[in-house]
Amino acid sequence: MSGTLNLKRSVIVGCGGYLPEKVVTNHDLAKIVDTSDEWITERTGIRKRHFAAKDQPTSELAVKAAHVALQNARIRAEDLDLIVVATATPDRTLPSTAVIVQGKLGNNKGLAFDVAGVCAGFLLALNVVDNFLKSGQGKYALVIGAEAMTSLLDMGDRRTCVLFGDGAGAVVVEAKNRDDIGGDRGVLGVHLQSDGHLHNILYSDGGPSTNGKVGKLRMDGQEVYRHAVTKLTDSAKRILASHELMVDDIDWFIPHQANIRIIESVAQKLKFPMDKVVLTVQDHANTSAASIPLALWVASAEGRVKAGDLILHEAIGGGLIWGSALVRF
Ligand code: ACO
Repeated sequence: MSGTLNLKRSVIVGCGGYLPEKVVTNHDLAKIVDTSDEWITERTGIRKRHFAAKDQPTSELAVKAAHVALQNARIRAEDLDLIVVATATPDRTLPSTAVIVQGKLGNNKGLAFDVAGVCAGFLLALNVVDNFLKSGQGKYALVIGAEAMTSLLDMGDRRTCVLFGDGAGAVVVEAKNRDDIGGDRGVLGVHLQSDGHLHNILYSDGGPSTNGKVGKLRMDGQEVYRHAVTKLTDSAKRILASHELMVDDIDWFIPHQANIRIIESVAQKLKFPMDKVVLTVQDHANTSAASIPLALWVASAEGRVKAGDLILHEAIGGGLIWGSALVRF
């Protein structure tokens, strides 16, 4: 097995994204909850976010992002061996959102399943897919982060409802033989960790086996903030060290987009220049598992991130679960 693992690389060959039509500004929120544009901008960097329509489930956002990624990669949906959806807002308790996406895409030859890593879900899905592909279980995979976060929001709770938005991002990943790749491209490594003792600082207050409800998102913001800065900094240092890389070797830092202050603090601790950080939090807010692939899509579509660039990703979410990934695009 280890021989196979060393022979293959999981290379991102296409990116896509989708943001629902409805844009909600901080001023719009200030009309329904006791907040202000000034407070939200100053504490989070968020200026606006997209809200899905009432009849727009997560799978629909995911499929729209998937079509863009497949087109970008010039791969047909029926050629996918694996479809993994990272989401905290599944369409239904069962089956998985991924099989609904698989059906809507018209693929019946692959394997589709969800992973639950909340805001770190995309990195978890990428890690799972990387291991599937490197061990020879398929050639083409679709990794989607998709969230209808508004379905979990208590719109009367100003401490949480201003922070999140809806959207989906997707990447097509191809298993390539290392000998066939020009340069050292692909997923170089992923570091992920969780600490279940902290499950009660960010959670939904419902669930099928507790009260039969979806619940609303609850959070101890200051605790999450504190853990986010220390754990993300530690994870980034760890993955860089394990690959014998320095901060200067990284072309782009594309973190989970929760709060500009978390991103700036981590960048400062790593001595990472902010002009090499991709930021979408101001326009998308926190889209949970969708935020990294959406930011990657935006930056690659704008021509900022180019083939061969070395990217550091990192994310933290409810669990807590956190980690980082090194990807040569
Ligand atoms: N508008 C106006 N006032 C508000 C709002 C709001 N939307 N929300 C809270 N306040 C008030 C509070 O009631 C409090 O008022 P008080 O002093 O009269 O009691 C005051 O603002 C300060 O509240 P704090 O919670 O101390 O504000 P803080 O500076 O910690 O900022 C925030 C809150 C933005 C949530 C911050 O803690 C944070 O970013 N935490 C990280 C949480 C996060 O990003 N979670 C996302 C999910 S996890 C992830 O993706 C990383």
